[in-house]
Amino acid sequence: MRSKPVSIGRKIVRLQSVTSTNTELLDRSDRYENGDVMIAEEQRAGRGRYRRSWHSPSGGIYMSILIKEMEKPEEILKLSLLSALAIQRTLSSLANTAFYIKWPNDVYAGDSKICGILPETRVQGKNLIAVIGIGINVNNEPASGIHLRNPAVSLCELSGKKHDLNTLVKNILQLTDNFYSHIRENRFGEYLPELEQCLYGRGKTIILKKNDGQQEDIIPLGFTEDAALRCIRNGKEDILYMGEL
Ligand code: BTN
Repeated sequence: MRSKPVSIGRKIVRLQSVTSTNTELLDRSDRYENGDVMIAEEQRAGRGRYRRSWHSPSGGIYMSILIKEMEKPEEILKLSLLSALAIQRTLSSLANTAFYIKWPNDVYAGDSKICGILPETRVQGKNLIAVIGIGINVNNEPASGIHLRNPAVSLCELSGKKHDLNTLVKNILQLTDNFYSHIRENRFGEYLPELEQCLYGRGKTIILKKNDGQQEDIIPLGFTEDAALRCIRNGKEDILYMGEL
């Protein structure tokens, strides 16, 4: 794999502490370029999906990727899915556990969440900008709480040792940069078999939590060419888009 990033990770801004890397990049996007990455050792107001907070003590990975040159809005759906694949591949090489992508935006180790991804977009003048925020439990103690259906887990709990965060970040960004080039070359479809292989709950009934707080039983099957989920819903094959959640 090439060592010089084409787009993602050409510039990496490292901070000791920040409110939220997503908020910081979205609010000050004029200071940064397409593909720039912000990483913080800890976040004071890390954010998750469903307006939840994301517990961000030192020892975990908290980073966001800024995308300013989107050709089509679907690119961000593809990129957030393939960034999950980059994380799934990287973690798989470090612990003897099965890692899955839980649609739309989590990486699971077995039945426990190890990583959450928060893609966010904002209209800026005539342009749409996006950030993909990634939080991974590595050497930190994972959050616990009643809202977590399954207990969260960290990489060091799984592997029994501490990991070098810089090496992990480097691997994930290299893969993500490579995948981003492929998305732009209309090669997203090449990843569908691998994505399907590591889809959490494939062929089984799982509970999907939606933005309105409702839950729904679905059977995940795989993905479409535009990064939506193919599944069985209400007894019929259906397609779920991230915006529906
Ligand atoms: C989830 O709810 O599963 C998504 C969690 C996303 C957390 C990451 S940490 C880096 C970035 N900054 C944030 O405030 N959130 C994302």
